[in-house]
Amino acid sequence: MSKIKIAVAGVGNCAASLIQGIEYYKKNGKAKQDTQGLMNYDLGGYLPEDIEVVAAFDIDKRKVGERFDVALNAKPNCVMVLYNHLPKSKVIVQMGHVLDGVSEHMAEYPDDRTFLVANKKPSNVEQIIRDSGAEILLNYLPVGSEEATKFYAETCLKTGVSFINCMPVFIVSNPQWAKRFEDKRIPCVGDDIKAQIGATITHRTLAKLFIDRGVKIDRTYQLNTGGNTDFLNMLNRNRLKSKKISKTAAVQSQLDVPLEEDNIHIGPSDYVPWQNDNKVCYLRIEGRGFAGFPVTLECRLSVEDSPNSAGVAIDAIRCCRLARDRKIGGPLISIAAYSMKHPPKQIHDTEAKELVRKFIQGTCQR
Ligand SMILES: NC(=O)c1ccc[n+]([C@@H]2O[C@H](COP(=O)([O-])OP(=O)(O)OC[C@H]3O[C@@H](n4cnc5c(N)ncnc54)[C@H](O)[C@@H]3O)[C@@H](O)[C@H]2O)c1
Repeated sequence: MSKIKIAVAGVGNCAASLIQGIEYYKKNGKAKQDTQGLMNYDLGGYLPEDIEVVAAFDIDKRKVGERFDVALNAKPNCVMVLYNHLPKSKVIVQMGHVLDGVSEHMAEYPDDRTFLVANKKPSNVEQIIRDSGAEILLNYLPVGSEEATKFYAETCLKTGVSFINCMPVFIVSNPQWAKRFEDKRIPCVGDDIKAQIGATITHRTLAKLFIDRGVKIDRTYQLNTGGNTDFLNMLNRNRLKSKKISKTAAVQSQLDVPLEEDNIHIGPSDYVPWQNDNKVCYLRIEGRGFAGFPVTLECRLSVEDSPNSAGVAIDAIRCCRLARDRKIGGPLISIAAYSMKHPPKQIHDTEAKELVRKFIQGTCQR
């Protein structure tokens, strides 16, 4: 199989985990059958190590102009080291367009914790993408980067490159944007990536368990804390609108009757620097069972935030490439429902997984 050439927008913790994971599975996948976190080691003939980064964009002065593998380890990235023998990359990180990528409040935090914008002119992103031969662009920009995300989505439409949107600006789940990708026959997957075992999937599963066992949910919350730049950025509540919609819709979609707004609270709750890339989620579900007796569930989940979604991204990239091989354009419904919190169509997780399996086999078109 040929390589899957990808471009990355945002060389932060998620990109660092993804690349470390690819190297990890290159070493351990075949030899040790150690492939947890991936749907399949071999997905439709593509292995994780078939993914090759051919272009990368960022705006931080410690990353722009650096070799991609060096930039992955630059501050303020704080991802746990899963695999520290990254091969030397031929890719130099290029200056992106800052647009609304960096929130003003980020300037109030120590250099090691925050973004530092490089004093450079934006590169010609479109030309670099064309010259690199990239087929898929992975969007890892900070929450709230509406304009910057639209810029990369437009660039994909101009260049015929697929868009995988790992963050909560609604592109693939927006019918107008989706139609533009469909009209140009460019496959896309989005929006807002799910983790392997994250707060969203845990909350969805427990909510569905209540419903399946006939317990009526009265109210629920999900409070999350973390210490990476994703959590720091999300202290600016103005940037959170779509993140809250995405996370809330992912849980509401499991309920027969959605909860009233006041009875469901889901979102990033605070930034705790010493947690670094560790994310802690507290969730509570209150309901009523037989004859109205009360049932309350409380749960605490602790995960490494960035690696938690990297395997899901590796699967989404490989499905996107399969769609390109098969000349299928527009949103990929099955892998989006499986891998994203805010897909074009919400499908229960077990069913979505089965549909992706059929998609890989070629018996489900998208
Ligand atoms: N960790 C997860 O499991 C998970 C799950 C769902 C969604 N996400 C989302 O994925 C995105 C990436 O997460 P992360 O942890 O890598 O974030 P991060 O803060 O570590 O990285 C963001 C990167 O984007 C760069 N950047 C900022 N503005 C830019 C611009 N205009 N152009 C190019 N680069 C720019 C920053 O310098 C930084 O390197 C976030 O929106 C996050 O919410 C992550």
